[in-house]
Amino acid sequence: MAELISQGSLVRYYCTYGKGMEPFLIDEVKRKLAAEDVCQISGKVLFSSSAGIDRVSELKAAERLFLLLKKDSPVLLPAHTNQAKASSVLQSRVLGDKDQWSSAVMTWSRLQGELSGRRRTTVKSQSTALGVTRKTGEEGRGSEELKREIVEREGQTCGAEAQTLEKKRKRDEGGNESSIDKNAEDQRTSERDRKRHCEEEDEEERKGLSICRQNGKKGIISETDLCGTGSVCDHATSGLHHNVEGSGRNVDNTPEDLTVQKVEHGKTTEGRDETLLQPSLIKPEPPSPAAVTFRISCKCTGSLSRYYSQQEVSRVIGVGLSRLMGWKADLKNPQLEVHVYLSDDNCLVGFPLTRLPLANRSYIKTTGLRSTVAWAMASLAQIQPGFCVVDPMCGVGTILIEAAQEHQDVCFLGMDIDDGQLKKANENVEFAELGNRMHLLKASSMTLPLPSSTVDAVVCDLPFGRKFGTKTDMAANLPLILTEMERVLCIGGTLVLLLSPQLSCVLKKLLAQKDTGPTSNQEAKPGKQDCPSPSLSSTKQQTSQIQQGVTSPPTQETEPPSGLQHSPPPPLSSLKHQTTLRLSLGAIDGLLHKYVKMDT
Ligand SMILES: C[S@@+](CC[C@H](N)C(=O)[O-])C[C@H]1O[C@@H](n2cnc3c(N)ncnc32)[C@H](O)[C@@H]1O
Repeated sequence: MAELISQGSLVRYYCTYGKGMEPFLIDEVKRKLAAEDVCQISGKVLFSSSAGIDRVSELKAAERLFLLLKKDSPVLLPAHTNQAKASSVLQSRVLGDKDQWSSAVMTWSRLQGELSGRRRTTVKSQSTALGVTRKTGEEGRGSEELKREIVEREGQTCGAEAQTLEKKRKRDEGGNESSIDKNAEDQRTSERDRKRHCEEEDEEERKGLSICRQNGKKGIISETDLCGTGSVCDHATSGLHHNVEGSGRNVDNTPEDLTVQKVEHGKTTEGRDETLLQPSLIKPEPPSPAAVTFRISCKCTGSLSRYYSQQEVSRVIGVGLSRLMGWKADLKNPQLEVHVYLSDDNCLVGFPLTRLPLANRSYIKTTGLRSTVAWAMASLAQIQPGFCVVDPMCGVGTILIEAAQEHQDVCFLGMDIDDGQLKKANENVEFAELGNRMHLLKASSMTLPLPSSTVDAVVCDLPFGRKFGTKTDMAANLPLILTEMERVLCIGGTLVLLLSPQLSCVLKKLLAQKDTGPTSNQEAKPGKQDCPSPSLSSTKQQTSQIQQGVTSPPTQETEPPSGLQHSPPPPLSSLKHQTTLRLSLGAIDGLLHKYVKMDT
């Protein structure tokens, strides 16, 4: 039974997400948007909500947001179907009813209008409040955000930024391309970068330490694809010309449009990126359903993909949509991008609602960890008002900044040993206007300058991957780092760690060691992965030195009177495992671990 978009204020959406983020996204749409009919299919979470588009577009666990046109049963072509028959089945199954398309495009236009209106209001009020006008030619923060989209774990700002990103930034700043063109180009560049990062990971992969899983390429039809054959070429070309002229007229003749164009591609005097919620529609006025220009972006998996390329399917659907609606295909500057997903399980059609991924954050200047993952870490920490939250290896501060967006009355402390990282973190804190509740400190995570049992939550993304952790042996340091985290946490406090699969293996061994004792651990058979052997006994000694030397006044740390003397609990014995989740960090995976400190 086909699932249609809802009429009235209840709108049916879907979001894409990074691997492993689905539980966070499902929880978020239910909690923040009171979403109904939430379900998850092939890398997407579908939901209905009557919340305003401003709130929907602020989802933190999602990558991209779409308006759902239809979700239907899979398109299955009978064996030995000739091409004409196959095209006809595809068109009728994917496209269906004309009214459904008209209605969907009206809803999409309305949402686009609301997003544009919201942006206009925000920019206007910011400029008015400051009594200043936006300078032309200022560098758009959107370019910074675009970098983030393609920066994988290996390219986090802790390391050198790839040259390709800089080139891309410059290209983005050129501002001549249409937003949708840029988007398609971004996707291609992103794909190239992902490949490159995957190649960089080859060495680790061989060791079995990381996994590079590439998604199937999207079937965005190129002009060459479309113009390769017959009648579709005529359609496409005429549509292209029609739209270029049309869009020129619209922009030139409408002062309101001009204003919006300027605002959307610039930044405010505060330097915040106002392009992030830029709707996917290039022209702000809603198109009449009779005059839409479109492009099909198709992803095809399963049996269908064995017989037809994504380009072929896109072309057939494009021709059908032109016929059904009288719309023109326009590959370069379409008003509407139609996303079609065909698998053995489903047929899904939708329209993107924002040009850039929701995962691009307007409040972060320099990104480190992928923002969705940082947000997930903060949400796992179950932060409450009045909490003190510490990230002892904060980098540029992404996790704490994500946490601070969600929690007001909380004190955040970020520490790092690297001056460069702390400088960027400081800029981020200023940019996000969090200076009053986020503090930064240069310190080593192996000797935290904090009293014992004073922190409510520790969140930490440890260095790993090719560009991190090469100088220091994190596996060897992990026992001491964890022991320090355990020490500063108060009873009931939460520890959330992001580790590589290799470091997770070390962690597992350490925790097994605290349960069974070092002797039995030495006898234990090695795990599947070849982990360096951590030692808790040396950690115990080091920790005791740290406690005496750094944190505790002598009155609290003096030996108890003889008779009452008992040995302190072994390191890490108070940490109780809660959950472990595997998340994609782009080219490699990370494991998210949550522990709670128990009273021993
Ligand atoms: C993976 S990065 C953290 C990235 C961070 N989550 C962000 O979003 O920017 C790890 C950080 O740990 C820091 N680091 C490495 N060894 C450290 C130590 N012993 N004490 C404190 N920080 C350390 C590095 O300087 C780096 O910034």
